[in-house]
Amino acid sequence: MKVTVVGAGAVGASCAEYIAIKNFASEVVLLDIKEGYAEGKAMDLMQCASLNGFDTKITGVTNDYSKTAGSDICVITSGIPRKPGMTREELIGINAGIVKSVSSSLIEHSPDTIMIVVSNPMDTMTYLVHKSTSLPKNRIIGMGGALDSARFKYRLAEALEAPISDVDGMVIGGHSDVGMVPLTSHATRNSVKVSEFLSEDRLNQVKEDTKVGGATLTKLLGTSAWYAPGAAVSGLVQAIACDQKKMYPCSTLLEGEYGLNDLCIGVPVILGRNGIESIVNIELSDAEKAHMQTSAEGVKKTNGLLDF
Ligand code: LAC
Repeated sequence: MKVTVVGAGAVGASCAEYIAIKNFASEVVLLDIKEGYAEGKAMDLMQCASLNGFDTKITGVTNDYSKTAGSDICVITSGIPRKPGMTREELIGINAGIVKSVSSSLIEHSPDTIMIVVSNPMDTMTYLVHKSTSLPKNRIIGMGGALDSARFKYRLAEALEAPISDVDGMVIGGHSDVGMVPLTSHATRNSVKVSEFLSEDRLNQVKEDTKVGGATLTKLLGTSAWYAPGAAVSGLVQAIACDQKKMYPCSTLLEGEYGLNDLCIGVPVILGRNGIESIVNIELSDAEKAHMQTSAEGVKKTNGLLDF
């Protein structure tokens, strides 16, 4: 199993690190445009191998796509991250051109790859890969919901004063501060609905804290987060590589599902060796349905800024 991660910045390096630590891939190629940078990150990570007990071989390359040839899975993290006060949507001008050229170079060398898009604005970048390449829809996956759900579970556990392993929950919708739809009606603590333990006000607070999860970190760190994004990507990569048939919310092209068409947005999917093996339809509350609708309108508005 060969995985390429494009972008050796904090998110890309963290993806490579978590993939390696989980020890299911034979090789991770880390590619960056900055001379020597990916090579340095790869060497540093490889020097963790004996300490952390993994055998995955991590190779760094400077913009040499021939070294990515035959990748089963490619992850695109390249582009600029947001600065405090910026929305993910504001990154479109620079990131669209980068994602378009990176995805086409990757496919040239790995025509059978499954592609995971992390660059922001992620739902729009995922849609751009659909529009600008000929990859089938099951092989184009946007990573946002897995991360947002992890942030939701963190906030739920905090509110419940419970260990995170007691908590389950999912965030669908667009990967944006306003577009995220934390499914509070489905969230549970050990199979008991969280609404049994938390007041409506407290649950609303959890929802709002989840939606600005990335922005909160950007303010604290001065740039966007990397540990949880890297861990979330590694979860998707493992589900595909190990054919786990795991359910994750991912951004995928919708063709009528959830009453939506012609956009990529986060919905629950089953991930296995073929990438997105199916889209899971779940019952939403009226408020969640309405929120999903406005979230989709927001994503479409950003898609409208694309210049194919
Ligand atoms: C975040 C970026 C990865 O939410 O979108 O941290």
